[in-house]
This record gives sequence, structure tokens and C-alpha cells, in this order.
Amino acid sequence: MRVLIVKDEQEGGRIAFDQIKGAMATGQLNVLGLATGGTPCTLYENIRNSNLDFSNTISVNLDEYVGLGAEDPQSYHYFMQEQLFNVKPFKKSYIPDGKKGEEACAEYNQILKEHPIDLQILGLGQNGHIGFNEPGTPFTTPTHKVQLTKSTIEANKRFFDCVEDVPTEAYSMGIDSIMQAKSIILLAYGEKKADAVAKMIQGEITEDLPASILQKHPDVTIIIDEAAAKDLK
Ligand code: F6R
Repeated sequence: MRVLIVKDEQEGGRIAFDQIKGAMATGQLNVLGLATGGTPCTLYENIRNSNLDFSNTISVNLDEYVGLGAEDPQSYHYFMQEQLFNVKPFKKSYIPDGKKGEEACAEYNQILKEHPIDLQILGLGQNGHIGFNEPGTPFTTPTHKVQLTKSTIEANKRFFDCVEDVPTEAYSMGIDSIMQAKSIILLAYGEKKADAVAKMIQGEITEDLPASILQKHPDVTIIIDEAAAKDLK
């Protein structure tokens, strides 16, 4: 793991952008894995304001809420359109289909098989989740339906009118698929992430802290701000 401690999320977004730009320049970035949530927004701002061209790149997203369609402003389909795809269209963008039943998972696994991820962007849950792989998820799990934990629902209610509106289930790329990405950039900002960051980098590798599996990945860059780094020894 390479750990970069930055001043704030503006600097983190710039550094992650530079890494994507460098990977694009090699001509080897065919499939880019993307995340939603608050964390990647400064990265997406840098991409929107750049002259990078993704018309030959495929994107795959980590997750979608069960029951929300692409037209729903709270869906991750909608979020990605607003944050990135309206300005930077990709050759093709894949996100699990929240309107489908559990066959959405098998379909997504097939998509991931056909499009191996070159670079995956990750955020980090306060409980150590990556994607929506909550604590206790086996490391071998492929795309699956997840019951979101109370902690994740609480953390995500800021994007909804009230906590009751937050969906309780999601489809998420599994840890196994995340680990198959050739390289990974994980971003985490703020004091609320400090405990999970320390356990991810310096704790034991355990399914109770899903992100700890990243210690075993050969090419991971962790970009964190000073607040998120505060519990590192
Ligand atoms: C998002 C995702 C989640 C988030 C995590 C952090 O696609 O898979 O793992 O990255 O919940 O969320 P934020 O960035 O809102 O703190």
C-alpha cells in the first residue's frame, strides 16, 4: 500500500486526477471503476474541468440502491450523470440495475468478467466498507444484494430528505471483483473515517473490516487527508 497524506480533499482530488491522467496517457486504461458518495466529488470536478477524453474508456460503478431507477435523483445512476457523464461521456457506462431483481447481480458479474477493471476508485465507509460490502461480507463474494447497516444508512441520510427515505438495500460489486482490479485508488477524508483508515492500513486483515483486504492487493494507493490519518501510529 502506498499511503499519501494530503492537506484536504481538494489536494486529494487533484492527486487522484493526476494518477488517472497518467494511467490514460499509457493507453492501458480501458476500464475505469468509479464510486459515488461525497468523497470522489473533488476528483470528478477535476475530471469535468479537464480535457481528458473518455470516449474510448468503459466505466463500471460499484453499486446502486435496490428499487431506484436511473431517473430517480437519489439513484447512483443519476449521481454519476450529474457528476461526470453529462460532461464526460464514456464509451459505455455500467452500473448495477436497481430496478431489477437479483438477476441484476448475475448480469453485473458477467459485465465485470467481460470488462476487467484496470483502475478502481474507492471511497471508505465509516465502518470500513468498500463498495457496499458491509462488515462480515466474505472476501470471496461477487456482486450481491446487501442489507445496508444502520451506520451506513445514518451516514448516507445527508443525501435524502429524511432517514426513512434511505433505501435499506443495495446491489454491490463484491470484494472479489474489487480485488481483481489491476490497480486501486482509495480516497478517505475527515475525522469520521480515521478509525476505519487506521484499521484498514495497520489492523489485522479481517472480514469485519472489509477494506483491510486491500493490504493484500499489489497496487493500492491510499489518499487521505490529515484528519483521516489521525489514528495512524
Ligand atoms: C459508493 C460506495 C461507498 C462509499 C462510502 C463512503 O459508491 O461504494 O463505499 O464510497 O460509503 O461514502 P462517502 O464518500 O459519502 O463518505
